[in-house]
Amino acid sequence: MQQVLIIGGSGNVGRALTRELSWSGDVAVRPASRNPTGLVAKDGVDPVRFDYDDPTTFGPALEGVDSVFMIGPPSPEPHVVMLPFLEQAARENRKIVLMTALGADADEGGSLRRVETALEGSGSPYVILRPNWFMDNFHTMWLSPIQQGGVIPLPAADSRTSLIDSRDIAASAAAALRVDRFDGRSFNLTGPEALTYSEAAAVLSEAAGRPIRYESVDDESFVRSLSDAGVPADLSRYLAVLFGFARQGAAAPVSPSVEEITGRAATTLRAYAKEHASAWAA
Ligand SMILES: NC(=O)c1ccc[n+]([C@@H]2O[C@H](COP(=O)([O-])OP(=O)(O)OC[C@H]3O[C@@H](n4cnc5c(N)ncnc54)[C@H](OP(=O)(O)O)[C@@H]3O)[C@@H](O)[C@H]2O)c1
Repeated sequence: MQQVLIIGGSGNVGRALTRELSWSGDVAVRPASRNPTGLVAKDGVDPVRFDYDDPTTFGPALEGVDSVFMIGPPSPEPHVVMLPFLEQAARENRKIVLMTALGADADEGGSLRRVETALEGSGSPYVILRPNWFMDNFHTMWLSPIQQGGVIPLPAADSRTSLIDSRDIAASAAAALRVDRFDGRSFNLTGPEALTYSEAAAVLSEAAGRPIRYESVDDESFVRSLSDAGVPADLSRYLAVLFGFARQGAAAPVSPSVEEITGRAATTLRAYAKEHASAWAA
């Protein structure tokens, strides 16, 4: 039976990927977390402790697995901790499905691009997935101001973003892990349409049955509000930089890759919002 290690097993994508792979019944899944007791162990799902900051966890996590789904920790410089683990996994010839982010390949010196190029030159079988901004941010990172004041304050101006449901990323990763026909390729993963945040807010309003509006804010107040909510300042500033690229149109392209890889159309924001409407109720 194929064994898969899922880095970020407690996160949005990792939880959905664990579900996808374990449903199939023919893959043994090892979701990884710094605190694996918080993950459910059951038939075919065996959580493991893994911490990028603790290299002694690398060997036990990799033992006996055929392939690895890899995401970075929340940091502006993820390559610092990702490269040592990647090197060990590649040395042990594991297939690696690496999730970075849309636009990671725009700057050869960028932190995530450095991980991608190391993987491309590693000799291991690999697939790179570059997802756009997640729809899930509306019920996670951007949730608090929506709940408190029906507002989504972001420094996106009137740019468009082809938001993706994290479950479509998980479904794409599951396919990339299960078969080898995508090996050696990189895919931009997006939702099916590029919306402004005002248009997205209207979709959320309709689903939640209450007014929710987008407010275009400057970088400084965005960073301040995230920092007030406990997000580390360097990470908040990094997110503000990423919104700068979105303002220039970098988040607007729509890619057919989710459908190419999974065989089914990417989830619309309307469908996502219907399922998560209770999160935004007044
Ligand atoms: N949100 C977006 O719009 C967006 C868009 C494109 C790309 N991304 C990328 O998506 C990734 C986040 O994915 P997600 O939303 O599925 O995760 P998430 O829900 O944000 O959870 C973060 C995950 O990272 C793990 N983690 C944090 N520090 C770690 C460490 N030192 N060692 C090992 N694991 C660690 C956490 O595990 P434990 O806390 O359990 O240890 C958790 O599973 C990031 O790399 C981000 O750059 C996000």
